[in-house]
Amino acid sequence: MEAIKNIWDLKQKAKEVLPSEVFDYLAKGTEDDLTLNRNISAYHQYQIRPRRLVDVRNIDTAVTLFGQQWQSPIAIAPVGFQGVFHENGEIATAKAAEAKQHLILVSTVSNFSYQDISQHCTRKPWFQLYPTTNRDYTKLLLERAEKNGCPVLVLTVDLPILGNRVVHVREMGHLSRLKNKYGNLQFFDDDFKLHDPSMTWDMIAWLRKHCSMKIVLKGIVRADDAQLALDYGADGIIISNHGGRQLESNLSTIECLEEIAQIVDKKIPLLIDGGIRRSTDIIKALALGADAVCVGRAFCYGLAAYGQAGVEKALEILQEELIRNMMLTGVNTLKDLNASFVRKI
Ligand SMILES: Cc1cc2nc3c(=O)[nH]c(=O)nc-3n(C[C@H](O)[C@H](O)[C@H](O)COP(=O)(O)O)c2cc1C
Repeated sequence: MEAIKNIWDLKQKAKEVLPSEVFDYLAKGTEDDLTLNRNISAYHQYQIRPRRLVDVRNIDTAVTLFGQQWQSPIAIAPVGFQGVFHENGEIATAKAAEAKQHLILVSTVSNFSYQDISQHCTRKPWFQLYPTTNRDYTKLLLERAEKNGCPVLVLTVDLPILGNRVVHVREMGHLSRLKNKYGNLQFFDDDFKLHDPSMTWDMIAWLRKHCSMKIVLKGIVRADDAQLALDYGADGIIISNHGGRQLESNLSTIECLEEIAQIVDKKIPLLIDGGIRRSTDIIKALALGADAVCVGRAFCYGLAAYGQAGVEKALEILQEELIRNMMLTGVNTLKDLNASFVRKI
């Protein structure tokens, strides 16, 4: 792994080891990849403005989310079907997160169950929910997560229907060959629907009635929706466009951040994902008002290339870059970062 110096190297390695359609399933997005590419390229329009002559010997990257302190603001995004990237799938990811002490989010459509995955984590993962159209099933998912110690439920709100992912459909052949295709859903009958196009803001109250986990909405991209999230009592927001896998021609997530951060105004935790491949991306997002970030493809490239060790490598790369670039930016803690450190050109 010595040759691996950054996330792009891990991506290249993943490309070498994965069947081409599995690599495309991971690396590509929807339709013409416009949202996917914009998530990445928009970060290049924001430039960092470092401070000078600051004593930066002691860098602290700790962040507190819902009363839990994490040594790093880099969390692992919920990614479904990790078994297609590596046979140990989400278990390898969870072990890496535990070894490196990062927060991990577990997808509804993980190949291993939340129970099996969470056993490897001292501090329990957040559970990402795709509500089924059968609310009795949904309740079962909530109960199982909660019974296994899940503190935070992450409701994905950008998927009333699957985006137009040509590659995704081709990939389904690989999925059906997996031993446990649906770790969390194996007891459900075949005709359940994972995506509920009828879901509206009332869902927050429904969830509140049926569980006592914190409720975070994943997929908010506008200030007015962020305001509604506050009005309806959401406990947190993840700004996300599903890594460019849902609606084509979105703004990038970093472009959505400022207006949302203004509305949220530190009242609830605000996270962001999409396009993060370098720690300078993370510094920009935190400076513009995010409390933490999630990475999706970045860790999956590591998982595909080297299993658990590869996920650890991805986390290590981003964390080391973060410390170095915080020193170069002239800040000691994440709280020191503010909008004055970034200018959009
Ligand atoms: C292969 C793949 C599968 C994903 N599966 C899910 C999922 O099951 N649930 C979900 O909420 N988001 C899912 N996402 C979206 C991620 O949680 C995250 O929003 C996205 O990957 C962030 O963008 P990035 O990959 O550029 O970091 C998936 C993303 C990828 C790449």
